[in-house]
Amino acid sequence: MGLVSAKEMLETARKEGYAVGQFNINNLEWTKAILQAAQDQKSPVILGVSEGAAKYMTGFSTVVGMVKGMIENLNITVPVALHLDHGTYEGAKKCIEAGFSSVMFDGSHYDIDENIAKTKEIVAYATERGISVEAEVGSIGGEEDGVVGAGEVADPKECKMIADLGISMLAAGIGNIHGAYPDNWQGLRLDVLKEIQDITGKMPLVLHGGTGIPDKMVRDAIALGVSKINVNTECQWVFAEKTREYIEEGKDKVGKGFDPRKMLAPGTKAVYDKTVEKMTLFGSINKA
Ligand code: 13P
Repeated sequence: MGLVSAKEMLETARKEGYAVGQFNINNLEWTKAILQAAQDQKSPVILGVSEGAAKYMTGFSTVVGMVKGMIENLNITVPVALHLDHGTYEGAKKCIEAGFSSVMFDGSHYDIDENIAKTKEIVAYATERGISVEAEVGSIGGEEDGVVGAGEVADPKECKMIADLGISMLAAGIGNIHGAYPDNWQGLRLDVLKEIQDITGKMPLVLHGGTGIPDKMVRDAIALGVSKINVNTECQWVFAEKTREYIEEGKDKVGKGFDPRKMLAPGTKAVYDKTVEKMTLFGSINKA
């Protein structure tokens, strides 16, 4: 099928009451695990790439080449969007040129007027190329790849102003945080989420910081219009845990157990399993 924009995928999800997972990729193993999980479960999927992860993989065009190659060689037929996560203004433009099918421009750290002006430019640039755009209002708490957010609760009126710019999906801070939630976390502001959905109409909403949100709260958020949920840290945790187990059990010392293809296999399988678990929770299985 090749890469597709996230727009139609999310509009369908919103209409039918489920969410599509955005799973962040860091390397070849993760990309393969997530694509295979999506294909096996007949689920649409969004591969998220932060600018830091793209740099690690040597650049945006490497990522595009790898993902397109895998879609072809693994016979992936479910819809796949390749999406820039928390992009800068320059990064978003570079990704569009490199062949991403979706970008996030995160202008949440600018004042609202500058966020509007820059989002508008990215929308114009992306839309004429058939690429979906995610914008953000109210920063997401915690740190991801060096991007630190204070964890604000978005102003629904500002959400409406950004939603009206022709974006495909909107990320709004509602008390969500990247990485682990602290023990005293008060939970998602579902009341604000409802206000945002009411004021923005049918706009698909994006929930960042998918790691560690209780399942019921995830389902409630989906019922209120969340149609894209981002997961990164939980995959990192299970990958690290299984890789550590392999080494601690001394398996790298047995035969050719030091071969990276063997050493990274348990962690890769764990990312596959975590992806299936999240797709089940989000309700996207058999929707492709
Ligand atoms: P977590 O790392 O908390 O799962 O969040 C991922 C995310 O929101 C990517 O943008």
